[in-house]
This record gives sequence, C-alpha cells and structure tokens, in this order.
Amino acid sequence: MSADEKILELVNVSKTFDRLQVLTDCNLRVNKGQTIVLIGPSGSGKSTLLRCINLLEPPTSGGVLFEGREITDDPRGADRLRRNIGMVFQNFELFQHLSAIENIMLAPMKVLGMSRKDAHDVGLELLRKVHIPERADHFPDELSGGQQQRVAIARALAMRPKIMLYDEPTSALDPEMIREVLDVMSDLSQEGMTSVCVTHEMGFARRAADRIIFMEEGRILENAPTEAFFGGDANARAQKFLSQILH
Ligand SMILES: Nc1ncnc2c1ncn2[C@@H]1O[C@H](COP(=O)(O)OP(=O)(O)OP(=O)(O)O)[C@@H](O)[C@H]1O
Ligand SMILES: [Mg+2]
Repeated sequence: MSADEKILELVNVSKTFDRLQVLTDCNLRVNKGQTIVLIGPSGSGKSTLLRCINLLEPPTSGGVLFEGREITDDPRGADRLRRNIGMVFQNFELFQHLSAIENIMLAPMKVLGMSRKDAHDVGLELLRKVHIPERADHFPDELSGGQQQRVAIARALAMRPKIMLYDEPTSALDPEMIREVLDVMSDLSQEGMTSVCVTHEMGFARRAADRIIFMEEGRILENAPTEAFFGGDANARAQKFLSQILH
C-alpha cells in the first residue's frame, strides 16, 4: 500500500443552512488505506462534514476532490464518487421488508446489473465476512442491533466501495454489541479499506485510526497522528473533550 497516495480531499469546505454557518473552511486529506476518526461535541458539524464528503449535502463553498479531480460541480464525477463510497449510519437504515441477504443483493442487481445468482454469492460471502452467514434469510426485526449494523456494513461493501464513511455506527447499540461491530470495522481497516469514522469509541480509535480529527463549532481544530493525539500533543480544547468522553 502506498503510504501517501491521496484519494479524497476537502479544500476550504464551508456549509451554511439558511443563515447558520455549520462548517467553516474545513480542509482534509484522506490517503488511500487510511482510517481517520472524527470526534467532537454534538452539533460541531461531524455528520455534515461526512455528508459533504459524499455530496449528500453540497458544500456552500470550497471543493471536494476525488482521485485528484474536482467533483463539486461535476455531476458525473459526483456519481462516480457516490458509487465509490459506502456509508453506514447510526440507525442501520436497512430495508425492513427484505431479508439480510436481499438487503445486500439489491444494489449490485439494480445498479451494477448483477444476476440474482451472482448477487446471492456476493451477499453470502459478505455475510461470512461480517460473521453472520447463518442469518442470511432473517429479516431486520429478527436480528439484534449489532447484527443489523453488520448487515448494513455488508450492504455497503457489496458495491465494492473505495471509501467507507461511518456516522456513529455503534451509538445506538447495547454495550455487548458494540465490540462485534468495531471488530468488523477494524478488520476492514487492517485489510486496507480507506475509512472516515465519526465515533467516540476511543479504544477503536487508538487501535485502528491513523489520524484523529477534532472538530468544534464547524471547524477542524486538530488533525494529528493517533499516537501524538493520545500522547498528549492534542490542543487544549481537544484534550478537554477527550477527558470528558473518557471519564
Ligand atoms: N439539514 C439541516 N438544516 C439546518 N440545520 C442543520 C441541518 N443539518 C444539520 N444542521 C445543523 O448543523 C449543525 C451541525 O450538525 P451536525 O449534525 O453536523 O453535528 P454533529 O457534530 O454530527 O452532532 P451530533 O454529535 O449530535 O451528531 C447543528 O447546529 C445542526 O442543527
Ligand atoms: Mg452527527
């Protein structure tokens, strides 16, 4: 893996909703294979930043570059970016009327034109990867939260994304289920999946992240290598936040 091959970049991204300034001049470089953990107080703009990365929210100003190309004002580039990004949300957002494997098969069949059989093979392989192949035919309401979130991760992986974005993927889970989801995310990171994760699971951050980003009031206040961040090099605001979530 090339250590510093840039795959995604945000350049001076700002976002306002009506008159509310939510992001201010955010700059972020994501290298291929990196895992980046994004932390910060509620309302600091973490979800909005993730949504700007895949252009679910268009930035008010600034640019998003994917594989070196500016795609903010390029609809085809934006489509390509979205296809290459998998997103996982706090509340799983599975299709309730589809079984686990059908949730995974849907996009490969509809978007990639894969046959039902091939999509089924892919679905089963991915359910094995997230350690629940025996749940293939279960519906979401027959699965635990941790299992549902693992199906959601498998569903995102079915499109063979180059980047995974996670928005607090474990914060709706009971404590005993958090670990099984974080383990799947760690394994993916170790295999070289590029990821940006909003999470306050600092054990995971220490274990899996290459860099930690701290946001406050719409600004990136800190962007440091994981070891330096936890080793006491983070700025005072980030340190204070860290001590609040660790105690
Ligand atoms: N669609 C929207 N319209 C108006 N304001 C919004 C919208 N989405 C987010 N905001 C506002 O933007 C600010 C940042 O919200 P965001 O959800 O990005 O924060 P966050 O850091 O993810 O918070 P949390 O930790 O609670 O998830 C908040 O003040 C929020 O109310
Ligand atoms: Mg959020």
